Formats: sequence, structure tokens, C-alpha cells
Amino acid sequence: MGYPDIRPRRLRRTPALRRLVAETTLEPRQLVLPLFVHEDAPEPTPIKSMPGVVQHTRDSLKKAAADAVAAGLGGVMLFGIPAEKDATGTGAVEPDGILNLAITDVVAEVGDQLTVMSDLCLDEFTDHGHCGVLDPDGNVDNDRTLEIYAQMAVAQAAAGVDLVAPSGMMDGQVGHVRRALDAEEHYGTGILAYSAKYASAFYGPFREAVDSSLQGDRRTYQQNPANGLEGVREALLDVEEGADMVMVKPAMGYLDVVRAVRSAVQVPVAAYNISGEYSMVEAAAARGWIDREAAIIETLTSIRRAGADVVLTYWALEAVQLLAG
Ligand code: PBG
Repeated sequence: MGYPDIRPRRLRRTPALRRLVAETTLEPRQLVLPLFVHEDAPEPTPIKSMPGVVQHTRDSLKKAAADAVAAGLGGVMLFGIPAEKDATGTGAVEPDGILNLAITDVVAEVGDQLTVMSDLCLDEFTDHGHCGVLDPDGNVDNDRTLEIYAQMAVAQAAAGVDLVAPSGMMDGQVGHVRRALDAEEHYGTGILAYSAKYASAFYGPFREAVDSSLQGDRRTYQQNPANGLEGVREALLDVEEGADMVMVKPAMGYLDVVRAVRSAVQVPVAAYNISGEYSMVEAAAARGWIDREAAIIETLTSIRRAGADVVLTYWALEAVQLLAG
């Protein structure tokens, strides 16, 4: 049977009907707000390439975390920008490094009302901008980097974070971090693994957000955008190594990978609606080329529809308002 007996438009006739048959939900608890904190910022500093997003001070970060609680968000993802960077990213492992202080501050502010997550990667802390340390030939040294990630994980756990989020795409990073946490009896600290993370041009604005000094690219560790099966393989490996949750990143160009990973694993799946995806919408909306608010909700709903249980988005707070209104 088909037309004229079947008329799918019947279920689209009124707002009430459309609401009744909507397949996908978008709820505050499913959204995670990434937040940047700068060691030196005297006041919140706008990030030019990400209109509406700032590098926080320690004080304004606490306020943002409190806003996230009030909005009913699922969590926050913290990124630290140190005043000084060096070859091995020392600031990442010191207990009084900016990210570890920020975790302590935020956990003191929100307690158990919000899931506090932290980026576990060296790129914000190294003067060369890579996600790991370099060998004498200038290549990213996987296994030496793992040792630093282990120390970083323990420092973040000691600061009280709920989930560490290794994002450097080093082989074995999840298992290594898990063993390091357990050795220090941080059994309750979980791992949200950036499992399928692609070498993307859409990270551009983020590089300004973290004052990145990267020359070149990350293609020897982040994935080739041409590969989908490899993303599933990475996610499966991370689950085997002990990841409590996995992530696909970026989101919009990789919705097929989100779907494939959702089908392949039995842990919650997150997707990161990254800086370039945010800034493209903001830039087009600022020119009047698209309806900004509709584009925000459509973007986040599409990522959920593809299979993401959790969505990291710079619009998290605003999306909650849009959903309420
Ligand atoms: C690595 C990291 C990056 C992002 C999150 N974690 C940058 C990169 O891998 O180059 C990008 C986030 C975004 O673009 O919004 N620490």
C-alpha cells in the first residue's frame, strides 16, 4: 500500500502530533559544557574565533560550574591553559598546575551535583603543542607519553575529578591510565575515552582557545577522516582497556561513526560538537544566513539521533534555555 492510502504527513499536522511521535529527546542531563580556564587571565577573556566562549579565571570558572548545576546539565569538561609551557608539559602533572587547581575549585563548588570531567592531554601544556612528548627525531613518543598521562591522571583524580578524559590518541592510553589510577587506589575515578578522534581542520578555533603553539598537524596519532571502521576498532580497544565511556570527535562530519560505535559497544557513547562546528554556525548566523537558535537545536538533536547518549557542546547552557522556552 502507498499513496493515497498512506499519508505520512498526517503525523506532522499539528505541533502536538509532532511532539507525540518525536523519536529523539534532547535533555539538559545529556549535555556537557566544555570550559576553559587560564592560569593568568585577570578577567574572563573572549575567544575571538568562538563568539560567546571565554577563557575563564578561576573565579569565573566556579560561577560557570554553578550555572551548569542550576541548568541541570550532565557535566562539565575542563581544559586548563598554563601561563608557561615547556617540552614535557610539566604544568599538567603538578598538583598546583592550573587544570588540577581548577578541578579542585569546581568540585568544591558543585560537589556531587554535576559530573566533573577533565581533558587528559599534553597539548595545552607543551611548548611544541603536541599531545605527547617528542623523541630526538621530533616524533611523538607514544610510550614515554603514557608515563606522563599516568601521572596526570593520578593528579586529576587526587583533585577530585569524576571522569578523566584521555584525548591524545596514544596507543594503550586507556589501559595505562586505568592501571595508574588503580595503583593509587582511585578505583572510583572513571575514564571517558576520546576513542575515535580524527585529525580535523574543525579544531581550528580550539587552538586559539588554548593558546596552542602547534606547528604542523597531528596525523601520526589522530585518525584519518577517511576511516570509519578504524574508529570502531579504537572504541572496542578502549572498552577492552577499561574505558567507562567512549567518545567520537568531531561529531557532525562523523555521525556514521557515532552510529557504528553506538552499535558496537555496551558503554555510554559521547560525541563532541567541536569548536569549528560551533563557530561555523555562529559565523553564518551573525551574517543572517541561518536561524541561529534553530540551527543549534537541530545540530544537537542530529547528534543524539545518530546515537550519542551524551553531547559535549559549547551551547549547553543556551540549549537548556531554548529547550525550556
Ligand atoms: C586535545 C583536544 C582538542 C580538542 C579537545 N581536546 C584539540 C586537538 O586535538 O587538536 C578540540 C575541541 C574543540 O575543537 O572544540 N587536548
